[in-house]
Amino acid sequence: MPNFAPDKPGRIFLMDLNEQNPKAQALEISDGFDKESLNPHGISTFIDNHMGSTVEIFKFEEQQRSLVHLKTIKHELLKSVNDIVALGPEQFYATRDHYFTSYFLVLLELIMDFHWTYVLFYSPREVKVVAQGFSSANGITVSLNQKYVYVADVTAKNIHIMEKHDNWDLTQVKVIHLGTLVDNLTIDPATGDILAGCHPNPMKLLNYNPEDPPGSEVLRIQDVLSDKPRVNTLYANNGSVLQASTVASVYHGIMLIGTVFHKALYCEL
Ligand SMILES: *[C@@H]1O[C@H](CO)[C@@H](O)[C@H](O)[C@H]1NC(C)=O
Ligand SMILES: *[C@@H]1O[C@H](CO)[C@@H](O)[C@H](O)[C@H]1NC(C)=O
Repeated sequence: MPNFAPDKPGRIFLMDLNEQNPKAQALEISDGFDKESLNPHGISTFIDNHMGSTVEIFKFEEQQRSLVHLKTIKHELLKSVNDIVALGPEQFYATRDHYFTSYFLVLLELIMDFHWTYVLFYSPREVKVVAQGFSSANGITVSLNQKYVYVADVTAKNIHIMEKHDNWDLTQVKVIHLGTLVDNLTIDPATGDILAGCHPNPMKLLNYNPEDPPGSEVLRIQDVLSDKPRVNTLYANNGSVLQASTVASVYHGIMLIGTVFHKALYCEL
């Protein structure tokens, strides 16, 4: 083949097709191999999907019963955010429930169970990963005395009880196995018990069939820090009333159960 630039090594160029008048720009390539003999050919589209999550901060105006938007929070570590728990006006823990963004890689991640998901701490001054190694960190909440943080690992079917330190780091105290896919967690404000919205039949959730819908399950975990936490079922249904429960919140003998896409259920305890 003829060579129009015999004195130049091969290079790889980038053209940003989002730009009005894109220009081909040679990319810097790091050292460590024989650049002189690099002779690449080919061309392809690289889609950089930032798939980042944002956290929106609102102020609740009790008089007007309205929400006033204060701020949008973005950060490179805020990705695939599943749930957050606020510890101050601009301080929160957030769970990341998967690592990859492309569909097939997410499937691969699920099958390989890489344990690459984490809990992030965010504040205007510091953002850091404070706990990692979850199959899929999902619901998160904080104990009444704010000394412990509870994290639901949905695919591992358990809840991690984490101690919260002054520097916001979390260390694991123990894991409570529930044997069902644990979605979101809340705290009973009267007792400090954990309430867990669960998915008893996840395959029915993934392959939705209205004739045979996914069911619902809400568990109450008492004596969380003791040697033998007690787990009771507060609500269970095969999908005839409520499908795909994710979260339950209680107050003064009333429980509201939320779902992925179905209704919300108002219950008396
Ligand atoms: C999860 O539970 C928390 C309370 O612990 C709540 O603030 C949040 O909205 C819930 N998220 C979902 C997706 O259910
Ligand atoms: C769910 O339970 C109801 C009774 O509570 C029953 O009539 C119905 O057939 C059940 N549905 C499924 C899909 O098992």
